[in-house]
Amino acid sequence: METIKLYNGVEIPANGYGVYQVSKDDCKDSVLLALKAGYRHIDTAQSYFNESEVGDALKECSIPRDEIFLTTKVWIDNYGEGKTYDSVITSLNKLKTDYLDLILLHQPVNDYYSAYRDLERLYEEGKVRAIGVSNFYADRLVDLCMFTKIKPMVDQIEVNVFNQQVEAKEWADRYDVVIEAWAPFAEGKNDMFHNQTLLKIANKHKRSIAQVILRWLYQRGIVSLAKSVHEERIKENFDIYSFSLDDEDMKLITSLDNKTSSFFSHQDPSIIEWFGKLIIERRGR
Ligand SMILES: NC(=O)c1ccc[n+]([C@@H]2O[C@H](COP(=O)([O-])OP(=O)(O)OC[C@H]3O[C@@H](n4cnc5c(N)ncnc54)[C@H](OP(=O)(O)O)[C@@H]3O)[C@@H](O)[C@H]2O)c1
Repeated sequence: METIKLYNGVEIPANGYGVYQVSKDDCKDSVLLALKAGYRHIDTAQSYFNESEVGDALKECSIPRDEIFLTTKVWIDNYGEGKTYDSVITSLNKLKTDYLDLILLHQPVNDYYSAYRDLERLYEEGKVRAIGVSNFYADRLVDLCMFTKIKPMVDQIEVNVFNQQVEAKEWADRYDVVIEAWAPFAEGKNDMFHNQTLLKIANKHKRSIAQVILRWLYQRGIVSLAKSVHEERIKENFDIYSFSLDDEDMKLITSLDNKTSSFFSHQDPSIIEWFGKLIIERRGR
């Protein structure tokens, strides 16, 4: 299993399995399929509402806990001193484990400094092996690197061939922060699975477009998190270590970058407003 080392020495399997938008009904079986295919890195979040099912899969599989790298993320409604800490303990209970390999703050909104200090406390107490953030653009990431006791070890952001995050990666490298790519296929948006440039490279290597994308991320030193609920695709997405892309392939993929999110920008005020309204709406339920 190929891994990428964090600045504290912890190693992350470079190819992870994500369970965003995997329903409660499908989640346990999907995680078991991923583990069977060889995945040893599972990425969930409090806001995915499937931590318990991930925990069920971890209990049911016969793989020792210390061979699986497990990440969850703190949702913004749980930001606040003490509140973040307690929410992570709840996550541990749902996940049926006594430690996490990585805990992330999910979004750069609300009182993320207080939340981050709780992550530092969890790290110092040995309840988590690594701490970090998600969706922090370079300015917010550098802010945390400058003004916290323990720098983030990871920043999980959208990275795909149409939004390659070259500048964000340069800033992260400067502070030894490992980038994880969420939605490496942009959930298939912009017809990614039929892109002619990617298809040409895939045909050249007798691989699929999905494999080319995940291999490209690996060769850039970026951890990928792909989601599928289909066994054949799960196997395909894990099988990226038996070929490599050459300089010409890498250059062709570089040319696809339009530096635009397929989703939204965390620097858009209306998105921050949307997050705020979402908290109020969920509290009302
Ligand atoms: N931190 C964040 O804010 C954030 C945001 C989004 C995602 N994430 C993380 O990143 C993970 C992946 O992102 P994502 O789930 O949004 O999107 P994604 O992995 O880019 O795309 C998933 C989509 O691609 C399809 N697919 C997967 N493998 C395929 C293949 N080999 N061939 C054809 N289609 C394939 C899946 O369909 P089927 O399932 O039907 O196969 C699904 O529709 C998440 O699960 C989560 O862990 C984090």
